[in-house]
Amino acid sequence: MFLRFSISRKLFMKKKAMEPKKQKKPWPTKDAMIQVYEKNLWGGNASEFYSGDGSHDVNIVKPYIEVVTSFLNSLKNGLIVCDLGCGDFNIGKQLVKQTKKYIAIDIVPNLIAYNKEQFKEENLEFRCLDIAKEELPTADCLIIRQVLQHLSNAEVQRIVAKLSAFKYIILTEHLPGGDFEPNKDIISGQGIRLKKKSGLNLLAPPFNFKIKQQQQLLSIPLKNNKGVIVTTLLKVF
Ligand SMILES: C[S@@+](CC[C@H](N)C(=O)[O-])C[C@H]1O[C@@H](n2cnc3c(N)ncnc32)[C@H](O)[C@@H]1O
Repeated sequence: MFLRFSISRKLFMKKKAMEPKKQKKPWPTKDAMIQVYEKNLWGGNASEFYSGDGSHDVNIVKPYIEVVTSFLNSLKNGLIVCDLGCGDFNIGKQLVKQTKKYIAIDIVPNLIAYNKEQFKEENLEFRCLDIAKEELPTADCLIIRQVLQHLSNAEVQRIVAKLSAFKYIILTEHLPGGDFEPNKDIISGQGIRLKKKSGLNLLAPPFNFKIKQQQQLLSIPLKNNKGVIVTTLLKVF
């Protein structure tokens, strides 16, 4: 009896091993992001929305707030800023006062509902939108911080098609340290390009985003060869 079970198990395992490896099925990005927050896949306590250590580690956040504040204050008139993928708003909440108006967008409905309760300023507005699928509000400056790194090339492409309407873009991406082949494709919501020794470069193929000027504002190397978090100011027109 035991022998028969063991043989049929072996046959089953062999058959399984010969089957072609199943492709990871892409989830809709919205469902993937909802799950990230529900299951605290980026860390934090079960009771909170947590957008990851990149949004909370003081060594990463403090210099970022300093350079972005300095840029926002360098312009005579306050800017209308739109924050695409605002997350738990630990970053955005420190920038609102430096702007004429701050529109914070995310794809996760509960997160936006929570942020609306939590953060109240006269010049602050939250909206729940899918930035790849829906129209973006009018603004002078976009903040896109550690968002595109989570999205497939097809989704990034749809977002890039809307970017030329904004004068300034402050883009932050988690990249490999040193040289790398940019823009290897990933499935949205299933890790970032770093696992493929790649990272996003909007100016390179297949995106070829056209800008007037770019300036690196900040580059923060992470411990244990875990790459760098780079913030770049793009002047679009
Ligand atoms: C790693 S978090 C970064 C949050 C914030 N920008 C920060 O730096 O603290 C990425 C955020 O992008 C949001 N996001 C991803 N895809 C999106 C989409 N298509 N439309 C709107 N938000 C999106 C996620 O829900 C998540 O809150």
